[in-house]
Amino acid sequence: RKGQDLTGLRVVVSAGGTREPLDPVRYLGNRSSGKQGYALAQAAADRGADVTLVSSSSLPVPAGVTLVPVETALELQAAVTDAVRGADVVVMAAAVADFRPAAYADHKIKKSHEAAADGSADESAPVVTLVRNPDILAGLVQARGSATTPVIVGFAAETGDGEASVLEHGRAKLARKDCDLLVVNEVGVGVTFGQDDNTVHILERGTDHVTDIGPATKLEVAHAVWDAVTDLL
Ligand code: C5P
Repeated sequence: RKGQDLTGLRVVVSAGGTREPLDPVRYLGNRSSGKQGYALAQAAADRGADVTLVSSSSLPVPAGVTLVPVETALELQAAVTDAVRGADVVVMAAAVADFRPAAYADHKIKKSHEAAADGSADESAPVVTLVRNPDILAGLVQARGSATTPVIVGFAAETGDGEASVLEHGRAKLARKDCDLLVVNEVGVGVTFGQDDNTVHILERGTDHVTDIGPATKLEVAHAVWDAVTDLL
């Protein structure tokens, strides 16, 4: 395997965490570095695929990969929806924010310097209301309907209470999301996010089959994901 085995395939990879703006200078974000998604893009390009990378991360773009830069979940959704037309495979490695601020303030949100009516300082703080972002992966599965392409791969970042429960969470998530493959990994501060190594379990829909990878570099994990994808094609 490997060599140029993905030649002729059009693949879309999303990577990194989204940033959901509160005002022109602040956003809600997460700890995803984008490294696993970039490794997936690089591995696919090295194996001959035509790769579109939809990303909010500022890592160097691998040679031969087309970057579509995005910031928010809604931008990522629009870019992926566009890129996936005619694609053979889509891998959702992005850490999409589940919620975004309901309102965007055109100007920087400031502390109040006004004295209250009784003369005391105003120590009030704003309340941020959140709304749900769309589940982009679920939307891709729904839009595909009964067609067999694109092959749809999801990621599940699970915080561990032991490996068994990480896998159980993964199985339940695969059943819910109904994508073809789910790559389950364990995350937390200093674990996976921002690191160069990763330990993952690749689950396949409709089977009990689990492929355990790692600890391995994110590039090795990426190749294992493409190996699993080629088995489905
Ligand atoms: O449910 P959870 O967020 O753990 O699912 C993770 C998978 O779903 C990843 O593949 C991620 O890219 C995708 N996702 C998405 N849209 C969201 C949240 C997650 O596509 N709003």
